[in-house]
Amino acid sequence: MKLHRRHFLALSVASAGGILLSRWAVGQNQTPHSVTLSPDVYKSTGGLLELSLEAGSQNFIIGDRQVSLLSYNGQVPAPRLEAKPGDTVRIHFTNKLSQPTNLHYHGLHVTPADNADNVFLSISPNEQLTYEFQIPQNHPAGTFWYHPHRHGTVAEQVFGGLAGLFIVRGDLDEIPEVKAAQEEFLVLQDFDPNASGQPNAPDPMTLMRGREGALITVNRQVNPTLSIASGGLLRLRLLNASPSRFYRLALENHPLYLIATDGGAIANPIELEELLLAPGERAEVLVRGDRPVRQYRLLNLPYDRGGMGGMTMPNMASMSGMNGMSGMMNPSQSQPPQTSLPLATLTYQGSTASLKLPEKLIEVESLPEPSKTRRIELSMAMGNKMSFLFNGKTFDPERVDADPKLGTVEDWELVNVDPDRMDHPFHLHVNPFQVISRNGQPEPDRAWKDTVLVKGGETVRIRIPFRDFAGKTVYHCHILDHEDLGMMGRLDIQS
Ligand code: C2O
Ligand code: CU
Ligand code: CU
Repeated sequence: MKLHRRHFLALSVASAGGILLSRWAVGQNQTPHSVTLSPDVYKSTGGLLELSLEAGSQNFIIGDRQVSLLSYNGQVPAPRLEAKPGDTVRIHFTNKLSQPTNLHYHGLHVTPADNADNVFLSISPNEQLTYEFQIPQNHPAGTFWYHPHRHGTVAEQVFGGLAGLFIVRGDLDEIPEVKAAQEEFLVLQDFDPNASGQPNAPDPMTLMRGREGALITVNRQVNPTLSIASGGLLRLRLLNASPSRFYRLALENHPLYLIATDGGAIANPIELEELLLAPGERAEVLVRGDRPVRQYRLLNLPYDRGGMGGMTMPNMASMSGMNGMSGMMNPSQSQPPQTSLPLATLTYQGSTASLKLPEKLIEVESLPEPSKTRRIELSMAMGNKMSFLFNGKTFDPERVDADPKLGTVEDWELVNVDPDRMDHPFHLHVNPFQVISRNGQPEPDRAWKDTVLVKGGETVRIRIPFRDFAGKTVYHCHILDHEDLGMMGRLDIQS
């Protein structure tokens, strides 16, 4: 078997760092030339997905740097979990971090009660908790994920590396053209290590924008290689697991055929020249291997996520903890890239009989008219303390901000009134939604989402069916520093 040099290095380093080589399958279930790192995979059997998961820390070599990251079972990205509708999930979780943490199952439609998708739980260092929940029989297939959600340290822990895919397999995977495609999982993460490999402490400016790092990785690698067969189809499952960085993706000479969004399949593939993924968002795209045999770059194009435009410097200087300009400009904490950066490289390897794109995927149901409409204003305040706000308030776990009734449909009007015109990706737990309109313009295609970008000055209307599960859960900005700084609300779904 021929290993690419980059991958060979990664393997030898992993071995030196004490990670079992067998954990890192070379192109598992794929052509031997595929060189993306694959973490452990846990699949359900007999209706049960059961595993032990330990949060801790681990050193890795990324590029040519030693980086200390937070890991689940010693891995970044974390082990990939795969289950089916109807399965029971049981995770024996141990916290070996030095601070409290918990687990959230982002995008899953499961109960927020008890030891399930309950972000109000807190697991102290060295404590254990067994999570258990059932995935409903009619749960859509899709690309979901898990990460810590302990309010106050979510950004820090996710930026440390804690994130893994949670795949629900089902009808989408059985569509013949999709099934015939070679499947790859791309977890996008950025890190900001200092010279000794520890994350730089964020300064106030960084917290305001949300922390980003200049070390941008796909499956913890810098610019890994993906392969496609001439005539073949590649199915990319993409996750933005960065706490604040946006990815504006384009693959040179190859359109992307969108087949699924956050919550699963769309009705028909949509051809895209580029794809914007805000923090927390996922997408599945197909790529056709119909171009001349050479290398193509998967690029991250420049993106301006707003902020600092309307903000005057005197306001900035009054921010808490900031003493004049000197503390603001930390060159190690990067601004969004001004140039296109290659995230991965696509190579052609071998050939296959020409595979077709699917024509039809899965119909997305049309939701009934809402019985109630709520308005949520997204904003920030810069008084003596920097805070991020929904309807002028920061998060209070004791305050109920919305009380939808189980079995009803609501429209939420998300209005970005941020004086600094910063983008805020809005995320709701437990119940996926559909985007109805943006600035009054109806959304052309129906799709299930759980995270939606609301740009500076925009109004986005989403329609949410509250189904199956009563109880308390949250909605928040998925720029996780904004969430930690208050941009989160509690909703109690009334039975
Ligand atoms: Cu991905 Cu409440 O989070
Ligand atoms: Cu979530
Ligand atoms: Cu935000």
